[in-house]
Amino acid sequence: MITKAQLKRLGREHGTPLFVVDHDALRRNYREFRKYLPRVQAYYAVKANPLPEIVRTLYREGASFDVASMPEFNIVYDNVRATPPRERQDWIWDKIIYANPNKPEETLEELNQYKPLVTFDNAEELHKIRAHAPQAGVVLRLKVPNTGAMVELSSKFGAAPGEAVDLILLAERLGLTCEGLSFHVGSQTTNFENYVQALALCANLFREASDRGYRKMNLLDIGGGFPAPYDDTVKPFRELARTIGRELGRLFPKEIQILAEPGRFLVATACACVSKVIGKAVRDGKPSYYINDGVYHTYSGVIFDHCKYPVRAFRKGPERISAVYGPTCDALDVISMAENLPELERDDLVYSVNIGAYSHASSTYFNGFPPAKVVHVNT
Ligand SMILES: Cc1ncc(COP(=O)(O)O)c(C=O)c1O
Repeated sequence: MITKAQLKRLGREHGTPLFVVDHDALRRNYREFRKYLPRVQAYYAVKANPLPEIVRTLYREGASFDVASMPEFNIVYDNVRATPPRERQDWIWDKIIYANPNKPEETLEELNQYKPLVTFDNAEELHKIRAHAPQAGVVLRLKVPNTGAMVELSSKFGAAPGEAVDLILLAERLGLTCEGLSFHVGSQTTNFENYVQALALCANLFREASDRGYRKMNLLDIGGGFPAPYDDTVKPFRELARTIGRELGRLFPKEIQILAEPGRFLVATACACVSKVIGKAVRDGKPSYYINDGVYHTYSGVIFDHCKYPVRAFRKGPERISAVYGPTCDALDVISMAENLPELERDDLVYSVNIGAYSHASSTYFNGFPPAKVVHVNT
């Protein structure tokens, strides 16, 4: 675990804003996932943090990958580019899922050579896949309850359960093989009941498909959503894993291969950021600090991910409720209106931990400020 003292030293040594990736933590998270869900093949959702070094470390750990675009596919592919063609093809089939239900035609055309496993959730997409990636295996993404998740996904993705088997049979009529079902219970799901309901729904649909003569489904993809321990209100992963493991054992025979697409769980706690106070003011009686990282940059998860990242000081002293702003000219660039901070001075360093997921990944160049510099530790 990277310490506060190390973060401070790295901030001074490399300059700020700085994004620090701890590869020991990545390995630990991956191993924890595998330990508590041994039946589940873990496909790291690259979108959570596509840094090639992160993908590399997880590749070396034996992870599989969920990609959502051709650039993400290529970040993963780089790891096997040099392996013999046959072996590489087997690896891709076994270790990559293209889990974006809506794919551009050009992407499908490029993917087709790899005989990829791809998701879909509507008839239009099936016709597109048939025309542009006929060698693909398909997985039907279902709409499932996302109750209480920090990031809701079911409003945009997933076939309604009532249309599921019709879509599976349509895939077959088009000459495609529907390999199985997938879902996503919403990101940072602390309501474990979402998984229980989604698994029950999938078991019913496996049965309905079989009753209607379709018996080729052999995989179930339980998506992402596994919560990162941002604070102690989040129940330990092993509790969720116990629930999921029990339901999988009860509902799905051993021959059904189980996949998951954890993003946040693997990477959130593996990264921290360090930035610097570049200005200070008292606004409406509140100490207010302007730092050189913000919501257009590493703290982008405040906007896109609905996530909060407490900002901590290295300096000690009596604390007051303070505001922390990013460096850009936009009044939206607010990291927090209420952080407990000691009196800070210009040039003081501040930091946030557990900021590895959906943060650096959605950093922009807005206002001419580039994304934070990245350093890797414990590689
Ligand atoms: C299809 C899909 N799989 C996996 C993930 C990763 O989810 P999480 O980071 O909650 O584990 C996402 C996140 O948006 C997703 O859309």
